[in-house]
Amino acid sequence: MASLFPVRGFSILGFLLIFLFLARTTSAQNGPSAPVGLRCEYLTDPLGVDVRAPRFFWTLDHASRGQSQTAFQVLVSTSPDCAKGEMWDSGKAVSAETTQVVYRGKPLDSDTSYFWKVRWWDKDGQASPYSTVARIDTGLFDPGEWRGRWIGGANQLRKEFAVDGEVLRARAYICGLGYYELRVNGRKVGANVLDPAWTTYDKRALYVTYDLAPYLKPGANAVGVMLGDGWFKKKALLAQIHLEMAGGKKVVIATDSSWKMKDGPVTSDSIYNGETYDARLETRGWDAPGFKDAGWKAAQVVDGPKGVLSAQLMPPIRVTDTLVPNKMMNPAPGVYVFDMGQNASGWARLRVSGPRGTAVRLRFAELLYPNGMINQENLRSARAEDVYILKGEGEEVWEPRFTYHGFRFVEVTGFPGVPTLETLRGRVVHSAVKPSGSFACSNPVLNAIQRIVTWGQKTNLHGIPTDCNQRDERMGWMGDAQGTAEEALMNFDMAAFYTNFLRDILDVQDEKGQITDTVPHVWGSRPADPAWGTAYPLIAWYMYQYYGDRRVLEDHYAALKKYVEFLRSRAVDGLVTYSYYGDWVAVEKTPGSIVSSFYYYYDVKILIDVARALGNKEDAADYGKLAEEIKAAFHRAYFDSKTGGYANNTQTANALALFLELAPKEARGSAWQNLFESLAYGHNSHLMTGIIGTKYLMEVLTRFGHSDLAYDIAAQTTYPSWGYMIENGATTLWELWQKREGPSMNSHNHPMFGSVGSWFYKALAGINPDPEGVGFRKVRLEPQLVRDLAYAAGSVDTLRGQVLCSWKRSAKCVTLEAVIPVGSEAEIVLPKLNLRNIVVKEGETVVWKDGKFVPGASGILDAVDKDGAIRIKAGSGRFVLELSGE
Ligand code: BGC
Repeated sequence: MASLFPVRGFSILGFLLIFLFLARTTSAQNGPSAPVGLRCEYLTDPLGVDVRAPRFFWTLDHASRGQSQTAFQVLVSTSPDCAKGEMWDSGKAVSAETTQVVYRGKPLDSDTSYFWKVRWWDKDGQASPYSTVARIDTGLFDPGEWRGRWIGGANQLRKEFAVDGEVLRARAYICGLGYYELRVNGRKVGANVLDPAWTTYDKRALYVTYDLAPYLKPGANAVGVMLGDGWFKKKALLAQIHLEMAGGKKVVIATDSSWKMKDGPVTSDSIYNGETYDARLETRGWDAPGFKDAGWKAAQVVDGPKGVLSAQLMPPIRVTDTLVPNKMMNPAPGVYVFDMGQNASGWARLRVSGPRGTAVRLRFAELLYPNGMINQENLRSARAEDVYILKGEGEEVWEPRFTYHGFRFVEVTGFPGVPTLETLRGRVVHSAVKPSGSFACSNPVLNAIQRIVTWGQKTNLHGIPTDCNQRDERMGWMGDAQGTAEEALMNFDMAAFYTNFLRDILDVQDEKGQITDTVPHVWGSRPADPAWGTAYPLIAWYMYQYYGDRRVLEDHYAALKKYVEFLRSRAVDGLVTYSYYGDWVAVEKTPGSIVSSFYYYYDVKILIDVARALGNKEDAADYGKLAEEIKAAFHRAYFDSKTGGYANNTQTANALALFLELAPKEARGSAWQNLFESLAYGHNSHLMTGIIGTKYLMEVLTRFGHSDLAYDIAAQTTYPSWGYMIENGATTLWELWQKREGPSMNSHNHPMFGSVGSWFYKALAGINPDPEGVGFRKVRLEPQLVRDLAYAAGSVDTLRGQVLCSWKRSAKCVTLEAVIPVGSEAEIVLPKLNLRNIVVKEGETVVWKDGKFVPGASGILDAVDKDGAIRIKAGSGRFVLELSGE
């Protein structure tokens, strides 16, 4: 067609199109951008979702400040372009919610792929473009859909199957216990290791879903599964492959006795003791089609776990990092010791060539003796030893599959020739939760603590939060979990992980409401020490505070109530006093009874808050009465009028009484005074607390306006302190304040003293979730400008987007940068630094002068002078505030 008014090969139509294009992009730049970070059930494009009404999440960005969503439109479809929302078209739903948006479409089918996208309207009514399309794949909703049998009998299982025609969709559903490695056509499927996560197998086992399409080919295919003992301590496999062919045919390949079995090269495997791999026993091609499996037997049908099957809806365990050794030592003839420079969980990858049958032995340790040999004494009965037996075919590269170690040092013996630094790599292995926070400040001691806290935390996430990762333990000790939960929530995206762990806790609860010290329950007692059991209500409550997760509260309310009722049934004179561990590993001992009583009260308080959040006024009122009774009983039982403190007047006892305001007004002053004096004078700014007291002590100091003292304690480098650990070479947190390296209980990677990590964020970076707007809808940015700290910065990737607070100061000025996500609101608290004639500017715009708020700066809603600070109310956006004066 001839163009209209051709201008040198161009046309008016062309101009028009360019104009329209420019207009579109400019309007997107000026207005709301398409939502990003789409997630379902906290996960990006999850496979195997077995929740019938899953929840959606997205984050927003906007060119202008002070923005919020007024409406959204979600489309859910079965077609990948998601052009129509035939499953769910929310329409223009008037809502500010960008998180926890519950699916309200047609019932979802099992084993089906869905696609979704979302757009939003900003507060001025302007619509954004649609997001890119995200995916949700459902799992198996109905137990009847599991058609196969549990099989085992050997640690290698295989099956060939034919693919006739075009595969439109291929999924594998697999529960291989204790651990599995799934292989198709000679390749490992996916990147998960030590999968699936440990559960109470009699109650529940987790299955994992994979997209098999990239692994399949037309014609003959083969699936091979290797099994390890893991925590199940037996081997059993239930798997099925679902193929959807062009033309509508559906094929299911399920485990049964038509599968073949034979023991493979892993001749022994144990989480604590290690793995032995005899490469001479490899049968090349066993996981590929066309393999002659005549020598293989029919797989045995075995007893599987008794529990239900649920989808594993959380970040799997993966190799997240590879450590290059910084040193190789040769402390004795034939003994080589590698230093990975970092205590971590995982294993070593070995590179070796040598004669067939040579056995190379790797032993793992956290510590060295002065003579340079590894010290495994603190591993107690865990052997932590991997053995690789060479097949003798050139360079062999190996890493184990079904064990993990906690280590910094690796000893190599039996190596053919002399190893080099290239011989080993450290493989860092843990639940691959996304790092979501960062913290740094001008004090290097604190930065070093932040580093050992986060390394300790992540390397102790192995499907459950563990106490340690090296010795014969590695349990889900609940006291450790609750004490570090806030720190973990600041540093990592824990939403899906804790959702799973809360269900794990529910799985151990008995008829009486009792739960256990460890989850799954192997070590420790039933009922749990109250300080340990509190992990249940507390983590549920944190899920609501940090992620706005109301569903967790709904799902667990009845069980939480049952737990509180169990505690109540154990109360004597209004208090729960039974205790096994109390303020565990404290320098100065506090009676366990006061610790348990504190947690009884705390649990009841949380239950009241949960009842309120769920609108259950009756329960809230009933438990409100109980809380008052406990409070009175606590004071009666523990207040000592002679000392003016609680129980034996330790730092912990007084911190507990103050933290939850269990001390009535008339006792608060003396309890506080005793605490302060013990810290500041009695112990020269050192804490004497165990894992319980430590968390509350730091928080109480900040609440009482003494963040300076808390900072002194945190920055200490002499015993007992975090800095003392660092001075003594710690690269992860220790279990004890004391330096011990013998055969006793002294893990060198134990996250439980990591609660200081959340204090860094809350006090020094100043990032505080505001209970008035859960899930960071409201946030208080109130950094403590302690002592000589020149700057501090923290950021947290919340479900709504990044929250950032970063400040620096000089004598007469403090500058604070804040980032607040769309739809959130912040109270930014600027300390007045004892200045007069204060002026606050945002960029070049004055927002405070002559003792008054000066309106005008975009996104700044208000400012007041209250409690010694200028408090600024701001909407979303990035702000740079400067407070100065004379
Ligand atoms: C664990 C602790 C745990 C404790 C119970 C220890 O063996 O390692 O971290 O909380 O037992 O007191």
